Amino acid sequence: MITQKAKRMLALMDRAVTLWHLPVIGRAKGRVIRRLLERHECERAVEIGSLFGYSAILIAGTMPPRGRLICVEANPYLARFVEYNAEEAGLKRKVKVVVGDALRAIPILSGRFDFVLIDAVKEDYLDYLRQLEPKLAAGAVVVADNTGVYRRDVKPYLDYVREPAGRYTSREYDFGDDAMEVSVLRS
Ligand SMILES: C[S@@+](CC[C@H](N)C(=O)[O-])C[C@H]1O[C@@H](n2cnc3c(N)ncnc32)[C@H](O)[C@@H]1O
Repeated sequence: MITQKAKRMLALMDRAVTLWHLPVIGRAKGRVIRRLLERHECERAVEIGSLFGYSAILIAGTMPPRGRLICVEANPYLARFVEYNAEEAGLKRKVKVVVGDALRAIPILSGRFDFVLIDAVKEDYLDYLRQLEPKLAAGAVVVADNTGVYRRDVKPYLDYVREPAGRYTSREYDFGDDAMEVSVLRS
């Protein structure tokens, strides 16, 4: 179950993004992500692209108290917002923000991850995943956002995770105006 404080913050952000167009995961995709985190009992997450912390609060707020999330955000100004907002949501201990270009930052992340959200430069999705692969636990869940809106840009990524003889079991969640690819690393 998501914490009450995190829920309140997300509700506030949901209200804001109905007024302004901001590219956050949002409520419908958020529900799927929460279910995935709970079903797979994820505790070590990393997200690539954090904006002002919507998905960070969703992920960290859903994981159990020992859960940890690393956010990789290229924009230092936004990275500060992610920190402030995570703190405001009562998630300071669970969220660490790494400021920098993901393709430089991922290779120096330490630890094993059982959940990944990819949501930064669309053409680089496959490179993010390939860099993360040595750090993924068996059964890790990898979510790639905006695979409907940016289908052409993410094609190499989709071809890779959907390869029948490949390393993932992958499926698309269709949200009408966009889609999200969920891939589970085979054990
Ligand atoms: C779509 S937004 C992320 C939304 C966020 N996941 C959410 O749902 O709340 C994309 C973010 O990726 C960041 N970004 C862009 N290029 C990046 C890069 N090379 N490395 C890391 N982050 C990057 C942008 O600054 C922006 O904050």
